[in-house]
Amino acid sequence: MSYDFKMDDPQPRLLDETRQGAIGKPIDRVDGPAKVTGRATYVADVLPARTAHGVLVRATISRGRITGIDEAPLSGLEGVLGVFHGPKFIRNPAQGMAGKAPVQTDMRVDYHGQPIALVVAESLETARDAAFRLHISYEAEEAEVDPEAASAVDVDEPVRRGNFQLCWDKADVTVDAVLTTPGHAAAAMEPHGALASWEGDELTLRGSLQMLAYNRAEIADSLGIDPEKVRVLAPFIGGAFGSKLGIGPDAVAAAVAARELGRPVRVVMARQTVFDAVLRRSETIQHLRLAADGDGRLLALGHDDRVSNLPEESFAEPTTRQSQYVYEAEAMRFQQEVARIHRTPSGSVRAPGEAVGMIGLEVAMDMLAEKLGVDPVELRLRNMPQKHPISGKSFGARALEAALEDGARRFGWSERKAVGTTREGDWLIGVGMASAVRPNMLIDASARVRLSPSGAVVETDMTDIGTGSYTIFAQIAGEMLGMPTERVEVRLGDTRFPPASGSGGSFGASSTGSAVFLASRRIREKIAAKLGCTPEELSLQDGIARGDNREAPLADLIEGELDETAHISSGDTDETHFSSGYGAHFCEVAVHRWSGEVRVRRFVTSLGIGRVLNEKTARSQAIGGIVWGIGTALHEALEHDPRTGHLVTRDLANYHVAAHADVPREIDVKFLEERDDHANPMQSKGIGELGISGAGAAVLNAIHNACGARVLHLPATPDKVI
Ligand code: MOS
Repeated sequence: MSYDFKMDDPQPRLLDETRQGAIGKPIDRVDGPAKVTGRATYVADVLPARTAHGVLVRATISRGRITGIDEAPLSGLEGVLGVFHGPKFIRNPAQGMAGKAPVQTDMRVDYHGQPIALVVAESLETARDAAFRLHISYEAEEAEVDPEAASAVDVDEPVRRGNFQLCWDKADVTVDAVLTTPGHAAAAMEPHGALASWEGDELTLRGSLQMLAYNRAEIADSLGIDPEKVRVLAPFIGGAFGSKLGIGPDAVAAAVAARELGRPVRVVMARQTVFDAVLRRSETIQHLRLAADGDGRLLALGHDDRVSNLPEESFAEPTTRQSQYVYEAEAMRFQQEVARIHRTPSGSVRAPGEAVGMIGLEVAMDMLAEKLGVDPVELRLRNMPQKHPISGKSFGARALEAALEDGARRFGWSERKAVGTTREGDWLIGVGMASAVRPNMLIDASARVRLSPSGAVVETDMTDIGTGSYTIFAQIAGEMLGMPTERVEVRLGDTRFPPASGSGGSFGASSTGSAVFLASRRIREKIAAKLGCTPEELSLQDGIARGDNREAPLADLIEGELDETAHISSGDTDETHFSSGYGAHFCEVAVHRWSGEVRVRRFVTSLGIGRVLNEKTARSQAIGGIVWGIGTALHEALEHDPRTGHLVTRDLANYHVAAHADVPREIDVKFLEERDDHANPMQSKGIGELGISGAGAAVLNAIHNACGARVLHLPATPDKVI
């Protein structure tokens, strides 16, 4: 059964009547106690009898061919079970949602650090020892590793609106700037890993993955077996941020070795392997051109970018997608170049596109406001589009104006002082702001809901990557079926359950949540029919069904169990509307006048995300995004060896993320009252990636307000600020 969008549909109102009061409530994660007491099991916590351990071996050239793998140095080592390599064996890091990654068909190397073999032994220590001893010979080829100097560059057709040059020439004020961002790592706490075991021709793969239905198809495809023969399990995931959208070389390697050895094989990546072998966010070179009339109305908006990836990879960081609809401009132009270089391939990392593209756009808007002498909030308010400037679609719920006004008021934006004029001792104080946008998506998802007199069970192969899926689905089913959240058992992370959207692109809670909503709704319809009232009249509470002056104990109506599986399809999205989350960030920084150290002191953020499903998990997502924004502005950078392209910053000591001391005590996030009828049956929108969008730009703009430094090459380390 699928959902038909109707503006007058009374069903979403069921969630507004809040008989249980569960939807939107900031209830604690239902899986919290299992996590803090160690009962939640991650890949590396599971060790079936006779499990062997695998360690991935990585290439030490940037490009070329493997000519030989010499196992002789392993001869004295006890407990080595095998060395696995060659065609159809090591798979390149997966493409996530961007397409199918090739199974390696020869002994080619495409980047320094690429997994090329797996050593399996009785113990992890022996496997590691053996991996270091293995001797690999290569035939190296010339490799380009610098995205700026690359000679192989794919240039896309530009996306255009109006006559750019004409509008540029008639402008009173222009900004023409280049902003660069370095590569980023997802840096999930739990390293990537896989545990594979076979029973006959059936594979069970325990992994740390975001999209199980898709991951099952990927592993079956890589091994050349029927997906029906594969079961993927991922009940708990220690963070992912896009890096676990697709399976990695660990999964294929473990599956092949386990089949060969006839025993379970576990491969857990060391942190450096995660950095080398898991997709990175591409660095970006962004060219921004803004032209306005004297009143601050945008005449031309241009945002071109260059990103990089391996020659054959299809993913390209969508750096300028958001710039096509945040503001209105008479003429627009967006063009992307992809430099084909030999570094760890790039892919989706939290808020692909906006995380870095909104920094470019929003820093340029700040520069334009300064040149015009117009308040930065006012400049944005003057350029609100009525419909999507490129596609022409309607927007539906669009909270950007409201967020700008609400955030400015709560922050005290009107107190803002001129550049470099506020000082506290040796600290220069400044404030900055930026808009936030992130498209909202609906992805195919199924869920099964069963109701018995004692409670309800939700089953779907959805994942909870720390985002709150377990909790939110219990709230949705509980609300719809008239029972407290504690009586709803949510089972996730197993491909034996109906296929879900998976977690990614901020679509998980709303997409799979919609399937839970629809299955629960079907159960309500059945109960209403038995009671003899309409579904709208039905009220369910405390085990009693009421409607149309009738009432009956639920136990009498359901005779055992009601069991419904529902599906929501991405095709159910209202095609006439472009759905997106919106918001605004306001931040205060202190810049040390002698050292250039930046302290972020205060953050105020207002967001419109449709119906909020859980205030606490949503807020945590927003705060997490803001922390990413601070890290992006001030700390994070993948540094590559200029000779080989190999990653130099490849552990959490060298790759700096914002830590506790870098994050202000006060991050004040408010969700604006909003319902989006065009998003999905629950009128909710994604939140995961909206918080990061623009957050880094607010920090950079505040640095400028504090001390006058306009940092355009991220991160804004002290040497660039002073
Ligand atoms: Mo997200 S980067 O789509 O998991």
